[in-house]
Amino acid sequence: MKQFISVQDVTNIDALVQKALGYKADRFKDRTLGANKRIGCLFLNPSMRTRLSTQVAAQNLGMECIIFNVGSEGWALEFEEEAIMSGNTVEHVKDAAPIMGKYFDILAIRTFPSLKNKEDDYSELYIKQFIKYAGIPVVSLESATLHPLQSLTDIITITENYKPQTANRKPKIVLTWAPHIKPLPQCVANSFAQWINAWGKADFVITHPEDYELNEEFTKGATVTLDQDEALKDADFVYVKNWSTFNDYGRMYCNDPEWMLTNEKLKLTNNAKIMHCLPVRRNVELSDEILDGPNSLVTQEAANRVWAAQAVLSEILKPAL
Ligand code: CP
Repeated sequence: MKQFISVQDVTNIDALVQKALGYKADRFKDRTLGANKRIGCLFLNPSMRTRLSTQVAAQNLGMECIIFNVGSEGWALEFEEEAIMSGNTVEHVKDAAPIMGKYFDILAIRTFPSLKNKEDDYSELYIKQFIKYAGIPVVSLESATLHPLQSLTDIITITENYKPQTANRKPKIVLTWAPHIKPLPQCVANSFAQWINAWGKADFVITHPEDYELNEEFTKGATVTLDQDEALKDADFVYVKNWSTFNDYGRMYCNDPEWMLTNEKLKLTNNAKIMHCLPVRRNVELSDEILDGPNSLVTQEAANRVWAAQAVLSEILKPAL
């Protein structure tokens, strides 16, 4: 694996899931794979799970990990080519990234979208500029439009928890929009849809209020409905997430609290397991009764972030055949 930016960088999702589960069973099985190697993790935006799980994963492989909170501690970076840097940006990525490429063996980056300009955000300029100029493998710790480490984790967690009642029955997986107090990126929802569709092992349904259609580039293959109750029927897994509008970009229209998942709605499902990437706003996006109840997978899901990161780093580190 030369980079990890989206599901398109993965040749076999199930093999990567099994690799991750192998690390879960024995975290130090490849403890020397990353010896004398260093990963730089650049955060242009806040994180808890991604930062810590990537650091732990690197250490499990014997790799040194250096965290740099560029957004709060570094020089303000410029990403536009041929920019006249007379504004707030101090250093161009074409000067900074090659230096990082000399310090590190792998560069991992978290950026967020502006949610102001769809074309800019969906061009993925920030991560593409790092790929162009760093000269070393780049791993996405969440970009403007995708969160692949989260999605790999989600498939690991579904794989662990799916117990088919009859042979060959596919799980029904529902991605449901949930209310929030402010417009959020579409990254997690886009990425989840992209990975579940590429995996091809589920009956996949997406439900959201009117105006919250996601980019078809990621959802194509899923059933999309505005009727949440209909979507929840017989679901085995319900993935809960807020996102802002894609078409009329970055807005929040309907914020109906009726879209928050409750135990009453859970009765429509096949005793579904409930997932969320976290952080979550309790009793806005997801109810206490669900988060603290027996069907919630959120802690297991977040814990699995380590094994997803470890599997990806080991694929990048392993010697080419
Ligand atoms: N799910 C996730 O990416 O969490 P953090 O923002 O805390 O990294």
